[in-house]
Amino acid sequence: MSFRSIKSIPVKGKRLVVRADLNAPCKDGVVTDATRIERFAAGLKPLLDDGARVVVLSHFGRPKGQIMPEMSLAPIVPVLAAALGRSVKFQDTCVGPEAEAAAANLNNGEVMLCENLRFHAGEEANDPAFAAQLARLGEVYVNDAFSCAHRAHASTEAIANILPAFSGPLMDEEIGALTEALENPKHPAVALVGGAKVSSKIAVLKNLVSKVDYVIIGGGMANTFFFADGHDIGKSLCEKDQIDTVREVQALAAKAGCELVLPSDIVYAFKFEDGARSTIADVTECPPEGIILDAGPKSVVRFRSVLARAQTILWNGPLGAFEIRPFEQATKQVALEAAELTRSGLVTSVAGGGDTVAALNIAGVAEDFTYVSSAGGAFLEWLEGKELPGIAALNRNKAA
Ligand code: 3PG
Repeated sequence: MSFRSIKSIPVKGKRLVVRADLNAPCKDGVVTDATRIERFAAGLKPLLDDGARVVVLSHFGRPKGQIMPEMSLAPIVPVLAAALGRSVKFQDTCVGPEAEAAAANLNNGEVMLCENLRFHAGEEANDPAFAAQLARLGEVYVNDAFSCAHRAHASTEAIANILPAFSGPLMDEEIGALTEALENPKHPAVALVGGAKVSSKIAVLKNLVSKVDYVIIGGGMANTFFFADGHDIGKSLCEKDQIDTVREVQALAAKAGCELVLPSDIVYAFKFEDGARSTIADVTECPPEGIILDAGPKSVVRFRSVLARAQTILWNGPLGAFEIRPFEQATKQVALEAAELTRSGLVTSVAGGGDTVAALNIAGVAEDFTYVSSAGGAFLEWLEGKELPGIAALNRNKAA
């Protein structure tokens, strides 16, 4: 990374245009999970204390260039104000003379949030003219939205070609943690990859096998591996058209000296529903009507022993149907083990992705991980080894 952090320059009196990701879960206009907002605020607060004048830009939902009142950022204002411990002005559009005048009138330590960027088609079109309008709101651009860095939009990409551009505190934190876990991991490094589909994790698996020593595979995607290995999987979720992908991942792993660790036993049921009667069986013994919904206890013992050797743990995707009982067990047991190893100072553990974070919260251990990324799609693309446009734009910028 060749960009600079905003923390490395004096900000007193400077007008910063800060791209945040305040796209927090909301129901009926009320924020239901303020984590993203609070983490952003924790990084912004010291800059305001140092006298920065801050214009915050964000998207909210996917209004596709239309003004949709239910996707207004207005309900975020009180939550952001509470997290910052200071008042937050709201500007009902992010471009134009009124927004520019309001931005120009900010005093040291004041902060203003502008209305949803995606009410304007120019945002997602990465339109340079729209980016130029955004740039008129300040003197310096700060990208503090790692979770949007996989989007080449005007506020994440084009604007960095106009203003001197810096990374923000939360961006620094995310990149630091992910680099430590994926680019320079301490070995042995173990990746846990779960989730429903192999097809959505092909690039992740291919990239990870070249970086880590073990990849533990769970969730619905493990069924496709079982099927490729000739096991009956009954009525379980399986992508039969991904057999070649599985073989390719197996070959790449063998070449790279990475061990793929699959469940040796399974928990199956005949219904996919909460509280369904479940049976533990060997991986070779799924009945024709069975639905595999979790890894079994022997697998958990094996997963835990692999984790016990690790110095780095990287986690994306639950290992079973964790959202319904009793199929949360493998995910929960493994989460507890990873948390315990982290607490003992034996490993660096990094997790990310919406489902993974939800699973860690259910296990009550999200706080114990070294780092839990607030990103979903961007975390996945980072694991795939892709260059994220928002980061590439910062790298290109020659902020003095
Ligand atoms: C997210 O929630 O992952 C980010 O806010 C990006 O949202 P998007 O997928 O609508 O671009």
